[in-house]
Amino acid sequence: MRSGLKIVVISTILCLMILKPSGPVVFKLTNVICGSYNKSWVTINQCRLKAINRHRVVLNFNATLIHPTSNITVHYQMFQRANGYKPWLLNAEVDGCRFLRKPYTAIGIMIYNIYKNFSNVNHTCPLKGDLLVRNMYLTTDVMRLPLPTGNYLLAIDWIFYGKPQYGTNVSFQFVEDLL
Ligand SMILES: *[C@@H]1O[C@H](CO)[C@@H](O)[C@H](O)[C@H]1NC(C)=O
Ligand SMILES: *[C@@H]1O[C@H](CO)[C@@H](O)[C@H](O)[C@H]1NC(C)=O
Ligand SMILES: *[C@@H]1O[C@H](CO)[C@@H](O)[C@H](O)[C@H]1NC(C)=O
Ligand SMILES: *[C@@H]1O[C@H](CO)[C@@H](O)[C@H](O)[C@H]1NC(C)=O
Ligand SMILES: *[C@@H]1O[C@H](CO)[C@@H](O)[C@H](O)[C@H]1NC(C)=O
Ligand SMILES: *[C@@H]1O[C@H](CO)[C@@H](O)[C@H](O)[C@H]1NC(C)=O
Repeated sequence: MRSGLKIVVISTILCLMILKPSGPVVFKLTNVICGSYNKSWVTINQCRLKAINRHRVVLNFNATLIHPTSNITVHYQMFQRANGYKPWLLNAEVDGCRFLRKPYTAIGIMIYNIYKNFSNVNHTCPLKGDLLVRNMYLTTDVMRLPLPTGNYLLAIDWIFYGKPQYGTNVSFQFVEDLL
């Protein structure tokens, strides 16, 4: 099942490289859950979605790093929801400080392109103080999303010096009308 889904994802990428999307697209945040695993390092001050209108839902996130960090591993997993979540579609780690010096890996760059205009996490390490995301929404303007229509969860654990410090789990809906 899992490899079947990956084949679907890969063929969708290939189709999207050939076809231009024509119909309306829904690409919308549906839920967010954040949690600190170590409140003596990270406090989550805000982690909330707000519906602006029928098509746009924005995310506001504010966390305080009580100590700076120069060693960040971003562990992300993506799941598709269908009668509960299926096994992960993606499961990988990115070296966050290396990434902020020079973005690498296609998925990492896609995630960064989605949030960077809305965030102050746009500079090289160390990260310190308040980490902010203000009024972030999803848009297909910046990229083609290589996904089949569905509901997804992107679960990210933020690991400092090898120890998980906080998690941000974002769910979203993606509907592409290719007809
Ligand atoms: C929790 O954060 C403190 C810094 O305030 C750090 O020294 C400690 O190693 C962290 N513990 C874990 C389990 O990550
Ligand atoms: C983020 O949260 C901190 C602590 O509550 C607060 O002092 C700061 O003003 C907040 N920043 C923004 C941009 O809301
Ligand atoms: C981010 O800002 C740049 C420059 O203003 C713009 O070209 C780009 O489309 C924006 N990206 C998003 C996701 O809004
Ligand atoms: C990074 O984000 C800050 C705060 O949002 C902004 O003032 C600054 O221009 C951004 N820097 C770059 C290089 O995009
Ligand atoms: C980050 O910290 C971990 C655990 O201490 C270590 O294994 C790893 O080599 C460090 N990464 C970098 C890029 O320094
Ligand atoms: C995010 O989702 C993953 C996968 O279901 C789960 O293991 C993790 O505990 C969640 N994190 C938070 C902060 O709820």
